[in-house]
Amino acid sequence: MRARRAALFAFAAFAAACAPVERAPERHPSLAKAFQGQFAVGVAVEPGHLEGLEGRFVAWQFNGLVAENAMKPPALQPQEGRFDFARADRIVEFAARHAMMVRGHTLLWHEETPAWMWQESDGRAASKERVLERLRRHVHEVVGRYRGRVQSWDVVNEVIDASREGCLRADKWLEVAGTDYLDVAFRAAHEADPAARLFINDFHTTQPAKRRCLIAVVRGLLSRGVPVHGIGHQMHVDLVEPKVAEVEEAFAEFATLGLEGQVTEMDMSLVVGVVRHPGSDAQLATVQAERYAELFRVFRSRREISSVTFWGLSDGRTWLDRGARAGRGDRPLLFDADLEPKPAFWRVIPPAAGRAALRAEVVSKSAPSAPALGTP
Ligand code: G3I
Repeated sequence: MRARRAALFAFAAFAAACAPVERAPERHPSLAKAFQGQFAVGVAVEPGHLEGLEGRFVAWQFNGLVAENAMKPPALQPQEGRFDFARADRIVEFAARHAMMVRGHTLLWHEETPAWMWQESDGRAASKERVLERLRRHVHEVVGRYRGRVQSWDVVNEVIDASREGCLRADKWLEVAGTDYLDVAFRAAHEADPAARLFINDFHTTQPAKRRCLIAVVRGLLSRGVPVHGIGHQMHVDLVEPKVAEVEEAFAEFATLGLEGQVTEMDMSLVVGVVRHPGSDAQLATVQAERYAELFRVFRSRREISSVTFWGLSDGRTWLDRGARAGRGDRPLLFDADLEPKPAFWRVIPPAAGRAALRAEVVSKSAPSAPALGTP
């Protein structure tokens, strides 16, 4: 089986290396190179997205990776005490081969907590002490394994609920462990890798009520000496919300915390509610391009923003075209399903990088032989 997989992998790599020049990912400007010195540009992947032409594309366009699903608690510890790191390892090893940063997503999320966390072996409900001990063990095992190879962690994901007093979501974590689960998760992660940057990650962080809650919860953690280093702004946006002014206002408010900021799950849906905006693909692509350009102007203006990560490598790999969301014609990213840049890519890339790429293309077209292209 191993030999077969190795042979398949070698063939895929060979095929990618032989991809016709007209499809070579390297003929377009690289986002990572264009934003060098400003922020890292990452992408959410599954291990299967790192082979063949896609792998070559990822290595060229990005200098950061995050596991879309492979590092979630049920994936890593499906049964208590049984860890399965195989899929996560493939992503971390690819990143190491290509000198890419890695975001760890995520150590604790109410939507992805394995059922065993809450039960004793006899079926009784687990106590607060038991649950917190299990949380410590999960965090120590996972962060310890990737010590020095995962530079930042979404320690907790989507814990804020601005409609509630105390600002925390009424989930099993709060019900069973009270607010202690936050402190325990961050402290355990810091113990396991003191150099890792520890983030609290959430969506709609620019909304006034939610950002006030998030800031209050973080100030509480910091006041207790809990090691929180950054705010993760998922930025799953659409063509209308959030307004650019709201984003600017929110990022300025978060900056008063003196922490790092990362855009962690960037995509821009063409759908509002369940209906795609009216307009042709070309019309919506133009609106999307302008809006991406505006948002990137804000990101580039904020010194505390250390990375911008896209939630999917192309419109062919977006979560917004799966399950109940499938078939709505949503195209939220900078590259189409053929890994070709969309108008939004050309509006996001700084002009100098675009011009440099154009020159390189002219040179390569006039060169007698095709340029030697790297392979993943
Ligand atoms: O891999 C299985 C496949 O074998 C099976 O046939 C299929 C149908 O049941 O399910 C597949 O697993 C799905 C997995 O995505 C891979 O597609 C899971 O059911 C599904 O729950 C999972 O959804 C993920 C979701 O988080 C929940 O974990 C999405 O891919 C992922 O994009 C999404 O990402 C979240 C972030 O982690 C947190 N922020 C919001 C963001 C979007 O919801």
